[in-house]
Amino acid sequence: MAEVVIVPDAARAGVLVAEEIVRLITRRPDAVLGVATGSTPLPVYEALRERVGGVDVSLLRAFALDEYVGIDPDHPESYRNVIRREVVEPLGLDPERVRVPAGALMGIETAGEEYEEAIASAGGIDLQILGIGTDGHIGFNEPGSSFASRTRVKTLTQQTREDNARFFESVDDVPEHCITQGLGTILAARHLVLLAFGAGKAEAVAGAIEGPVTASVPGSAIQLHSHVTVVVDEAAASAL
Ligand code: GLP
Repeated sequence: MAEVVIVPDAARAGVLVAEEIVRLITRRPDAVLGVATGSTPLPVYEALRERVGGVDVSLLRAFALDEYVGIDPDHPESYRNVIRREVVEPLGLDPERVRVPAGALMGIETAGEEYEEAIASAGGIDLQILGIGTDGHIGFNEPGSSFASRTRVKTLTQQTREDNARFFESVDDVPEHCITQGLGTILAARHLVLLAFGAGKAEAVAGAIEGPVTASVPGSAIQLHSHVTVVVDEAAASAL
Protein backbone atom coordinates (compact mmCIF):
# COMPACT_ATOMS: atom_id res chain seq x y z
CA MET A 1 0.00 0.00 0.00
CA ALA A 2 1.52 3.30 -1.06
CA GLU A 3 1.94 6.08 1.46
CA VAL A 4 0.13 9.09 -0.04
CA VAL A 5 1.24 12.55 1.06
CA ILE A 6 -0.94 15.47 -0.03
CA VAL A 7 0.94 18.76 0.01
CA PRO A 8 -0.23 22.35 -0.58
CA ASP A 9 2.03 22.87 -3.58
CA ALA A 10 4.86 21.49 -5.69
CA ALA A 11 7.48 23.49 -3.79
CA ARG A 12 6.52 21.75 -0.54
CA ALA A 13 6.71 18.38 -2.31
CA GLY A 14 10.18 19.30 -3.53
CA VAL A 15 11.32 20.03 0.02
CA LEU A 16 9.90 16.76 1.41
CA VAL A 17 11.53 14.62 -1.25
CA ALA A 18 14.82 16.54 -1.14
CA GLU A 19 14.97 16.00 2.63
CA GLU A 20 14.46 12.26 2.12
CA ILE A 21 17.25 12.22 -0.48
CA VAL A 22 19.61 14.11 1.84
CA ARG A 23 18.88 11.56 4.60
CA LEU A 24 19.71 8.78 2.13
CA ILE A 25 23.00 10.37 1.02
CA THR A 26 23.98 11.09 4.62
CA ARG A 27 23.43 7.44 5.47
CA ARG A 28 25.07 6.13 2.31
CA PRO A 29 27.30 8.58 0.46
CA ASP A 30 27.53 6.19 -2.49
CA ALA A 31 23.73 5.85 -2.77
CA VAL A 32 22.18 5.36 -6.19
CA LEU A 33 19.48 7.83 -7.16
CA GLY A 34 16.99 7.27 -9.96
CA VAL A 35 16.32 10.63 -11.59
CA ALA A 36 13.44 11.61 -13.84
CA THR A 37 12.90 14.32 -16.42
CA GLY A 38 9.75 16.29 -17.20
CA SER A 39 8.60 19.33 -15.25
CA THR A 40 7.36 17.41 -12.20
CA PRO A 41 10.69 16.62 -10.48
CA LEU A 42 12.12 20.14 -10.96
CA PRO A 43 11.04 21.37 -7.49
CA VAL A 44 12.88 18.39 -5.99
CA TYR A 45 16.10 19.35 -7.76
CA GLU A 46 15.62 22.97 -6.74
CA ALA A 47 15.14 22.06 -3.08
CA LEU A 48 18.10 19.69 -3.27
CA ARG A 49 20.28 22.46 -4.66
CA GLU A 50 19.62 24.46 -1.50
CA ARG A 51 20.51 21.50 0.71
CA VAL A 52 23.51 19.78 -0.84
CA GLY A 53 25.93 22.43 0.44
CA GLY A 54 26.56 20.51 3.63
CA VAL A 55 26.44 17.03 2.10
CA ASP A 56 29.18 15.12 0.32
CA VAL A 57 27.75 14.17 -3.07
CA SER A 58 31.04 13.17 -4.64
CA LEU A 59 30.21 9.47 -4.48
CA LEU A 60 26.51 9.75 -5.31
CA ARG A 61 25.47 7.86 -8.42
CA ALA A 62 22.42 8.53 -10.58
CA PHE A 63 20.58 6.82 -13.40
CA ALA A 64 17.96 8.51 -15.56
CA LEU A 65 14.77 6.76 -16.54
CA ASP A 66 14.75 7.35 -20.24
CA GLU A 67 15.97 9.12 -23.37
CA TYR A 68 14.68 9.91 -26.83
CA VAL A 69 16.04 7.68 -29.57
CA GLY A 70 17.78 9.36 -32.47
CA ILE A 71 17.73 12.83 -30.92
CA ASP A 72 20.87 14.88 -31.51
CA PRO A 73 22.71 14.47 -28.18
CA ASP A 74 23.44 18.20 -28.27
CA HIS A 75 19.75 19.05 -28.62
CA PRO A 76 18.80 21.06 -25.51
CA GLU A 77 15.87 18.70 -24.88
CA SER A 78 17.78 15.44 -25.11
CA TYR A 79 17.40 13.96 -21.63
CA ARG A 80 21.18 13.70 -21.40
CA ASN A 81 21.28 17.50 -21.61
CA VAL A 82 18.25 18.01 -19.37
CA ILE A 83 19.84 15.85 -16.64
CA ARG A 84 23.15 17.67 -17.03
CA ARG A 85 21.42 21.08 -16.79
CA GLU A 86 18.90 20.30 -14.04
CA VAL A 87 20.74 17.75 -11.93
CA VAL A 88 24.45 17.20 -12.57
CA GLU A 89 25.64 20.81 -12.80
CA PRO A 90 23.45 22.48 -10.16
CA LEU A 91 24.03 19.71 -7.61
CA GLY A 92 27.72 19.38 -8.41
CA LEU A 93 27.54 15.65 -9.15
CA ASP A 94 30.39 13.80 -10.77
CA PRO A 95 29.27 13.49 -14.44
CA GLU A 96 31.07 10.16 -14.66
CA ARG A 97 28.72 8.76 -12.03
CA VAL A 98 25.52 9.85 -13.75
CA ARG A 99 24.08 7.85 -16.63
CA VAL A 100 21.29 8.37 -19.09
CA PRO A 101 20.25 5.56 -21.50
CA ALA A 102 22.11 5.92 -24.80
CA GLY A 103 19.64 7.08 -27.42
CA ALA A 104 22.08 7.17 -30.36
CA LEU A 105 20.95 5.02 -33.27
CA MET A 106 24.42 3.53 -33.44
CA GLY A 107 24.51 0.77 -30.86
CA ILE A 108 20.83 1.05 -29.92
CA GLU A 109 20.40 -2.77 -30.12
CA THR A 110 22.62 -3.30 -27.09
CA ALA A 111 21.97 -0.03 -25.23
CA GLY A 112 19.18 -1.45 -23.06
CA GLU A 113 21.15 -4.43 -21.89
CA GLU A 114 24.21 -2.29 -21.19
CA TYR A 115 22.11 0.08 -19.12
CA GLU A 116 20.68 -2.79 -17.08
CA GLU A 117 24.21 -4.07 -16.45
CA ALA A 118 25.35 -0.63 -15.32
CA ILE A 119 22.46 -0.35 -12.84
CA ALA A 120 23.15 -3.85 -11.54
CA SER A 121 26.86 -3.21 -11.11
CA ALA A 122 26.05 -0.04 -9.14
CA GLY A 123 24.09 -2.27 -6.77
CA GLY A 124 20.62 -1.25 -7.93
CA ILE A 125 18.70 1.99 -7.41
CA ASP A 126 18.01 3.09 -3.83
CA LEU A 127 15.44 5.80 -4.48
CA GLN A 128 13.67 6.28 -7.79
CA ILE A 129 11.96 9.60 -8.48
CA LEU A 130 8.98 9.20 -10.81
CA GLY A 131 6.59 11.53 -12.57
CA ILE A 132 3.53 10.21 -14.37
CA GLY A 133 2.21 10.93 -17.85
CA THR A 134 -1.42 11.91 -18.41
CA ASP A 135 -1.95 8.47 -19.95
CA GLY A 136 -0.49 6.81 -16.86
CA HIS A 137 3.00 6.15 -18.24
CA ILE A 138 6.01 6.04 -15.96
CA GLY A 139 9.43 6.52 -17.48
CA PHE A 140 8.31 6.15 -21.09
CA ASN A 141 6.47 2.89 -20.45
CA GLU A 142 3.33 3.56 -22.40
CA PRO A 143 0.05 1.66 -21.86
CA GLY A 144 0.51 -1.99 -22.75
CA SER A 145 4.04 -2.21 -21.33
CA SER A 146 4.86 -5.46 -19.59
CA PHE A 147 5.35 -5.33 -15.83
CA ALA A 148 8.44 -7.52 -16.33
CA SER A 149 9.98 -5.23 -18.96
CA ARG A 150 13.57 -4.06 -18.75
CA THR A 151 15.34 -1.15 -20.45
CA ARG A 152 14.41 -1.24 -24.12
CA VAL A 153 13.29 0.80 -27.12
CA LYS A 154 9.64 1.81 -27.26
CA THR A 155 7.40 3.83 -29.57
CA LEU A 156 5.92 6.98 -28.04
CA THR A 157 2.17 7.40 -28.19
CA GLN A 158 0.74 10.38 -30.04
CA GLN A 159 -0.59 11.65 -26.69
CA THR A 160 2.90 11.69 -25.16
CA ARG A 161 4.40 13.35 -28.22
CA GLU A 162 1.71 16.04 -28.00
CA ASP A 163 2.29 16.44 -24.25
CA ASN A 164 6.01 16.86 -24.86
CA ALA A 165 5.67 19.08 -27.95
CA ARG A 166 6.02 22.11 -25.65
CA PHE A 167 9.73 21.31 -25.36
CA PHE A 168 10.18 21.26 -29.16
CA GLU A 169 9.32 23.58 -32.05
CA SER A 170 6.37 21.41 -33.03
CA VAL A 171 4.93 17.99 -32.36
CA ASP A 172 6.60 16.76 -35.56
CA ASP A 173 9.99 17.48 -34.00
CA VAL A 174 9.30 15.20 -31.01
CA PRO A 175 11.12 11.93 -31.63
CA GLU A 176 8.91 8.90 -32.28
CA HIS A 177 10.94 6.44 -30.24
CA CYS A 178 12.55 6.33 -26.85
CA ILE A 179 14.68 4.05 -24.75
CA THR A 180 13.29 3.62 -21.27
CA GLN A 181 13.87 1.63 -18.13
CA GLY A 182 11.18 -1.05 -18.08
CA LEU A 183 8.50 -1.41 -15.45
CA GLY A 184 10.49 -4.37 -14.12
CA THR A 185 13.59 -2.15 -13.85
CA ILE A 186 11.60 0.52 -11.99
CA LEU A 187 10.03 -2.03 -9.64
CA ALA A 188 13.51 -3.28 -8.73
CA ALA A 189 14.40 0.08 -7.13
CA ARG A 190 14.26 -0.07 -3.34
CA HIS A 191 12.04 2.99 -2.81
CA LEU A 192 9.74 4.58 -5.37
CA VAL A 193 8.74 8.22 -4.96
CA LEU A 194 6.05 9.26 -7.41
CA LEU A 195 5.15 12.93 -7.73
CA ALA A 196 2.25 14.55 -9.55
CA PHE A 197 0.83 18.05 -9.58
CA GLY A 198 -2.26 19.61 -11.15
CA ALA A 199 -5.70 18.46 -12.16
CA GLY A 200 -4.39 17.09 -15.45
CA LYS A 201 -2.72 14.27 -13.50
CA ALA A 202 -5.71 13.40 -11.27
CA GLU A 203 -6.99 10.52 -13.41
CA ALA A 204 -3.52 9.04 -13.89
CA VAL A 205 -2.80 9.25 -10.15
CA ALA A 206 -6.10 7.62 -9.21
CA GLY A 207 -5.54 4.89 -11.78
CA ALA A 208 -2.02 4.28 -10.53
CA ILE A 209 -2.86 4.10 -6.83
CA GLU A 210 -6.44 2.88 -6.65
CA GLY A 211 -7.31 1.38 -10.00
CA PRO A 212 -6.83 -2.20 -11.08
CA VAL A 213 -3.24 -3.32 -11.57
CA THR A 214 -3.18 -3.41 -15.35
CA ALA A 215 -0.76 -2.87 -18.19
CA SER A 216 -3.26 -0.32 -19.58
CA VAL A 217 -2.17 1.97 -16.73
CA PRO A 218 1.59 1.44 -16.43
CA GLY A 219 1.68 3.53 -13.23
CA SER A 220 -0.49 0.91 -11.51
CA ALA A 221 2.64 -1.27 -11.40
CA ILE A 222 3.65 0.69 -8.28
CA GLN A 223 0.94 -1.22 -6.39
CA LEU A 224 3.21 -4.27 -6.71
CA HIS A 225 6.01 -2.53 -4.80
CA SER A 226 6.28 -2.63 -1.02
CA HIS A 227 7.89 0.80 -0.48
CA VAL A 228 6.16 3.56 -2.41
CA THR A 229 5.65 7.19 -1.46
CA VAL A 230 3.27 9.26 -3.57
CA VAL A 231 3.52 13.04 -3.15
CA VAL A 232 0.71 15.01 -4.79
CA ASP A 233 -0.97 18.38 -4.52
CA GLU A 234 -4.72 18.72 -3.87
CA ALA A 235 -5.56 18.96 -7.58
CA ALA A 236 -3.64 15.79 -8.51
CA ALA A 237 -5.27 14.03 -5.52
CA SER A 238 -8.78 15.15 -6.51
CA ALA A 239 -9.86 11.86 -8.11
CA LEU A 240 -8.71 9.70 -5.19
C1 GLP B 1 7.73 12.47 -19.81
C2 GLP B 1 8.81 11.62 -19.11
C3 GLP B 1 8.28 10.98 -17.86
C4 GLP B 1 7.50 12.03 -17.10
C5 GLP B 1 6.24 12.41 -17.83
C6 GLP B 1 5.49 13.56 -17.21
O1 GLP B 1 7.31 11.97 -21.02
N1 GLP B 1 9.43 10.62 -19.91
O2 GLP B 1 9.35 10.46 -17.09
O3 GLP B 1 7.12 11.53 -15.84
O4 GLP B 1 6.49 12.62 -19.19
O5 GLP B 1 6.04 14.80 -17.56
P1 GLP B 1 5.75 16.10 -16.75
O6 GLP B 1 6.40 15.90 -15.42
O7 GLP B 1 6.42 17.21 -17.51
O8 GLP B 1 4.29 16.26 -16.65
